Amino acid sequence: MILSRIWGFLLLCIITEAEIFDFDQHTNEACYVCSCSSDLTNVDCSHRGLTSLPDGISTKVTKLNISSNEISSFPNNLSHLFNLVSLDISGNHLNELPEDALRNLTALEILNFSKNSFESWLSLNPNEVLKPASSLKILDLSQNKFKTLANLGNQELLISPSLETLILDDCEINSIHGRSPLSGLISIRVLKLNNNPLLRIQNLISPTLKSLYVSNCQLSYISQNEFAYLPSLVYLKMSYNYRLQLPPTTESILSESLRYLDISYCNVFRPNLSGFPNLRKAIIKNNMIRFLISNEFVNNSKLEYLDLSYNNIGSLKGDTFRGLSMLRYLDLSWNEIAHIPEETFLEMPSLAQVKLARNYLNKVGHLKSTSLSILDMSSCEISVIGKDSFEGLPSLLDINLSHNLLSYIPDSISSNTLKYLNLNFNRISSINNVTFFMLPRLAGLSVIGNRFTSIWSRTFFNSNPYLDRLDLSDNMWRCDCSDDNMYDFYEFVTLEPNKKEESYNLICNSPINLIGQTWLEACYFIWNPGEKVRSADSLIWFIIIMIGGLSLCLLIVHLIKKSMNRRLAAIQAERERQIEEARDRLRQLRIRAEQEALCNTPDPRDLIAPPSYDEALSMPKLNTSCHSLNETGTGKTKRRRGRRKTKSSGDLLEETEISGDARVFDDIQTDETSNDNSKQRRRRNRRYGSHDIDELDQSPGARRRRMSEYDTLNDTVTVEVEAQVEQPLSPRNRRYSDENQPRESNF
Ligand SMILES: *[C@@H]1O[C@H](CO)[C@@H](O)[C@H](O)[C@H]1NC(C)=O
Ligand SMILES: *[C@@H]1O[C@H](CO)[C@@H](O)[C@H](O)[C@H]1NC(C)=O
Ligand SMILES: *[C@@H]1O[C@H](CO)[C@@H](O)[C@H](O)[C@H]1NC(C)=O
Ligand SMILES: *[C@@H]1O[C@H](CO)[C@@H](O)[C@H](O)[C@H]1NC(C)=O
Ligand SMILES: *[C@@H]1O[C@H](CO)[C@@H](O)[C@H](O)[C@H]1NC(C)=O
Ligand SMILES: *[C@@H]1O[C@H](CO)[C@@H](O)[C@H](O)[C@H]1NC(C)=O
Ligand SMILES: *[C@@H]1O[C@H](CO)[C@@H](O)[C@H](O)[C@H]1NC(C)=O
Ligand SMILES: *[C@@H]1O[C@H](CO)[C@@H](O)[C@H](O)[C@H]1NC(C)=O
Repeated sequence: MILSRIWGFLLLCIITEAEIFDFDQHTNEACYVCSCSSDLTNVDCSHRGLTSLPDGISTKVTKLNISSNEISSFPNNLSHLFNLVSLDISGNHLNELPEDALRNLTALEILNFSKNSFESWLSLNPNEVLKPASSLKILDLSQNKFKTLANLGNQELLISPSLETLILDDCEINSIHGRSPLSGLISIRVLKLNNNPLLRIQNLISPTLKSLYVSNCQLSYISQNEFAYLPSLVYLKMSYNYRLQLPPTTESILSESLRYLDISYCNVFRPNLSGFPNLRKAIIKNNMIRFLISNEFVNNSKLEYLDLSYNNIGSLKGDTFRGLSMLRYLDLSWNEIAHIPEETFLEMPSLAQVKLARNYLNKVGHLKSTSLSILDMSSCEISVIGKDSFEGLPSLLDINLSHNLLSYIPDSISSNTLKYLNLNFNRISSINNVTFFMLPRLAGLSVIGNRFTSIWSRTFFNSNPYLDRLDLSDNMWRCDCSDDNMYDFYEFVTLEPNKKEESYNLICNSPINLIGQTWLEACYFIWNPGEKVRSADSLIWFIIIMIGGLSLCLLIVHLIKKSMNRRLAAIQAERERQIEEARDRLRQLRIRAEQEALCNTPDPRDLIAPPSYDEALSMPKLNTSCHSLNETGTGKTKRRRGRRKTKSSGDLLEETEISGDARVFDDIQTDETSNDNSKQRRRRNRRYGSHDIDELDQSPGARRRRMSEYDTLNDTVTVEVEAQVEQPLSPRNRRYSDENQPRESNF
């Protein structure tokens, strides 16, 4: 306990000390202007209107943000901050860098110069400026006005052996020319050239470059060998080049290494991907493709993901997708496909998901695929579905046929695997007990927004043991509450533990008086006859019980109060009795003490020798009879007296224990003090008895006079007298020292 307290205290000390220490550090001037993290490693001076670096930035800083200020020349003593890892100086007015700008910044990894006023590469000192920053990984030069990315005579060559990412978005670069501008960046991995008015990407030579971003440029043309000098290129994003086409490839390969190609929002008419034989993911959405020929992707056997959505594809052939043996995801939505040859998907043995939404398909047809599990044919104007439409799809789990024109589901539509059937927003008006008879795995069925009127029956799903989700809302249910089937079906759909739909989604649409009510609202009193009466009854009962309970409570409280009062009175009486007893005892004790004093019996405990014979002769004679006298001097008395004393104190102790009441405690204290007094008095008397001997030697007459006084005077007077008597006496050990010396009273 104590140990933990001490620990806590120590901890507190340490913490407060740390805080004080921190506070001291916070008095750094820079932290008045900027916001500093508590350990001073992160200093944010952005948006402060600064024209230069604030003074006194701790050398501990690893992340310094001085973006969006008015700095127009590179802060020359940044080199103090040799721990800097990230420097954001974007949004300022820099237009040149001294050769040694980054000296000493060996830890720097991220340098952001975007949104500055650089216009020429030469003003950067590109050959030298990055060399000291030997850990630099990311350099952001976007939103400057370089106009070109050139390398003429090596003077504009950016040199950094460590740089991995160079960002040149929005730099008004319209051409890349000269010997490869990337040749000084021997570790370059990522080059971003988005939003530049680039017409061509050429002259890019880098054995290491993996990712190239040229979105939203003005590329229109990729030449046969454009990527030939980028042997590591894996990721190419060239979306939003509105004039760009894929080059016609005849035998020649554009990029052996490319795995990811995004050429969405361009001007592609023909998805000639055969130049990219290792492609894994191709996004060609929002282009101008009108048709797909046979064997269109035959050389893309590694392709796994193909997005051809938002084109104008009107037709495809049965063997269009031949050779796409790895393809898992095919998106053909938002096209103009009216007919899909049955065996089209059979060519893709790994195909798992196909999106055909928003096409002109008018029937589900008889698609075939051994692997397809998720099929989206929503919003397609489909009006016909055959009972065997899914039979060629032995892996189908989920089919989305929402937003079509289906008005009829054939009996016994069959699939051994189908789990989720989405028929939302069609025109279906009836099903029966055999409609889903052949869908043994059906788990979720949605028919939101159809035209069902007559309430279904539980028997419709007799052979769908896994059904746990039914979405039935937004239909035109005709509620006939007296129909047992309705209640039965309501229970089937909404009751736990097999609840399939929220009851508030089940809304009646007819008869006229029930429009807009939930099934339960509409039928509550018919399904629960007598409920109304019962509820009134139960209310009355409730009130009666409440009243009864309340009065019972009051009675109990009253009784408790009464008994407590009685008990309190009893305690009070007992207390008074005890006090009385104690007083009695005290009175007796006092009387006895008085008698003793009167009899002048020396207490045997005062180990004082009895008076000698001569002394005894000079003593006054006893003339009063004294009953306590026969007790004195015997060991028995001593014991008894001691016992009585302890007993009385024990009684008092008992009293305190019993009561615990402050007032009683007071009583006891007074009792105790009086007891003390009596004890003291007794002691005094004893002493008096012994001292008396000395005194008698001195003035025998005085003693006699006092004795006669004693009888008439009351207690206090006695005490006074005794005090007077004792005054001249010294304590026993000093009995023979200076007797006139005043001594402390025993009282
Ligand atoms: C920059 O240098 C000036 C003097 O040349 C000095 O007062 C200031 O503290 C320095 N700033 C930093 C951040 O070291
Ligand atoms: C610097 O501050 C700006 C504005 O507060 C913020 O947008 C930017 O992300 C910060 N830079 C870094 C590297 O945290
Ligand atoms: C350069 O960094 C070292 C520590 O790496 C430091 O001692 C020295 O003062 C710094 N030089 C300058 C000019 O800031
Ligand atoms: C550089 O700063 C700009 C503007 O503050 C920001 O948009 C960009 O993401 C930053 N670059 C890096 C690499 O953090
Ligand atoms: C590539 O597309 C062009 C039209 O842009 C077409 O003439 C050519 O036949 C296609 N090449 C291959 C191999 O598909
Ligand atoms: C595509 O593959 C076929 C053989 O599968 C081959 O003859 C043809 O040259 C390849 N085309 C390209 C452009 O690589
Ligand atoms: C089904 O298709 C509709 C319309 O395209 C879409 O809103 C919904 O999210 C799809 N449902 C599933 C489960 O994919
Ligand atoms: C379906 O209901 C009809 C009557 O409507 C009945 O004759 C038939 O046996 C039921 N079939 C099944 C499989 O429950």
